[in-house]
Amino acid sequence: MAAAEEKKRVFIKTYGCQMNVYDSERMTDALAADGYVSTQKVEEADLVLLNTCHIREKAAEKVYSELGRIRVMKEDAARSGRQVMVGVTGCVAQAEGAEIARRAPVVDLVVGPQSYQHLPRLLKEAASGRRAIETEFAIEQKFDTLPAATKAQTRARGVTAFLTIQEGCDKFCTFCVVPYTRGAEVSRAAEAILKEAQRLGDAGVRELTLLGQNVNAWHGDGTDGRSWGLGELLYRLAEIPGLDRLRYTTSHPRDMDQALIAAHGDLPALMPYLHLPVQSGADRILAAMNRKHGSDDYLRLVDRIRAARPDIALSSDFIVGFPGESDAEFEATMRLIETVGYAAAYSFKYSPRPGTPAALRDDMVSEAVMSERLQRLQALVAAQQTAFNRQAVGTVVDVLFEKPGRMAGQIMGRTPYLQAVAVEAGPERIGTIGRVAIDGLGTNSLFGSLAGAQPRPEAPMARNATAAETAP
Ligand code: 5AD
Ligand code: SF4
Repeated sequence: MAAAEEKKRVFIKTYGCQMNVYDSERMTDALAADGYVSTQKVEEADLVLLNTCHIREKAAEKVYSELGRIRVMKEDAARSGRQVMVGVTGCVAQAEGAEIARRAPVVDLVVGPQSYQHLPRLLKEAASGRRAIETEFAIEQKFDTLPAATKAQTRARGVTAFLTIQEGCDKFCTFCVVPYTRGAEVSRAAEAILKEAQRLGDAGVRELTLLGQNVNAWHGDGTDGRSWGLGELLYRLAEIPGLDRLRYTTSHPRDMDQALIAAHGDLPALMPYLHLPVQSGADRILAAMNRKHGSDDYLRLVDRIRAARPDIALSSDFIVGFPGESDAEFEATMRLIETVGYAAAYSFKYSPRPGTPAALRDDMVSEAVMSERLQRLQALVAAQQTAFNRQAVGTVVDVLFEKPGRMAGQIMGRTPYLQAVAVEAGPERIGTIGRVAIDGLGTNSLFGSLAGAQPRPEAPMARNATAAETAP
């Protein structure tokens, strides 16, 4: 085997969602099997990969400016006789393969998200001077053909892990590029998922987040001969030793079935936090977005989920300024937020994406109106988030310690509700779950102290801020 200093180095920059984070890890594993070690320093890399995001225009443009910087670096390296290969992967690669080749001659390979299992071959092709572009939607499932991480690689990534169980989307929301960049909905086989989860549990992972563009559309043949949905899969995952915490993201309201809702009530390992994007609170806009549900359907669903798990924390995505959105329709979104009471939310100005139906509309909302709406919506969500976090102060909660804090003597962890907590404690506690008394509220995290052997009784975690608490 080659000595470490002879090994090639790969630098991967990841943009966008958690599925890209998972993909980058799997590419790292595949390249490791091919003799690459990963580096955090782009200037010492022999291979630079940008794993890109195409969801909004800004995300896609970032890639081209980064490629400009990389070109300078690659030319410098070439002058000192060192070959640097540059690849673009992810959703920009899928959507704009040929365009990247035209706009950025620095790029040696372009690989779409369904073709990572071919990376080693494509690299060889590109190294021989032939530019490699591969954006086919392959028939085989990439994750089941890519080499798995070793125990040491998994350990080095920490005590929380992602696992992609589903990719692609058949929903075709009219604003969204995902059905075009990630292709049709595909579920990974239950057996392969359980095997990987077991492997992660064996390697010391304590918290597993299942990923998918429509993760709750996951379905497959169960190991008991029946057909399973995500609910059934979660019951099996909850039996795996070591995996004390389970989460999943991102869900579509239409795919929250009864078994999944019941799992939230039944499984202590299934954390009481759910990202359930609604996008808008106005029925006409929801219909124009092709979301396949109205605002009432969403509110009734939230009630059913809260009936199963009263303390569940909810988050959502919102788009402001979808074409044609009136003031009254924006106010309907604000009212929905007040009614639900969120622990967190992500919100965006509508961004027209090439190839999507909404981009063809001629009733765009002006930039100024979008900015004003976004600001108001974000202020409301921030107030709800603060109210939600404030409720934790004075309670004792289980915290999974994940990493050292920024201050010496501090470690960082998360509550079941995904709140970050800084605690004065030694690094030996990382990877354990401890009782923590929450005694303060910072800007980005809670502060707490170890509750010791005699924990105070847990104060009931009040549900999120309600309409009454946040209404003006
Ligand atoms: N413009 C603005 N936001 C978008 N999103 C997806 N497509 C667009 C777009 N064209 C947002 C949605 C989605 C999240 C991942 O990104 O809110 O849930
Ligand atoms: Fe995009 Fe809608 Fe599919 Fe989500 S459900 S990935 S927003 S098309």
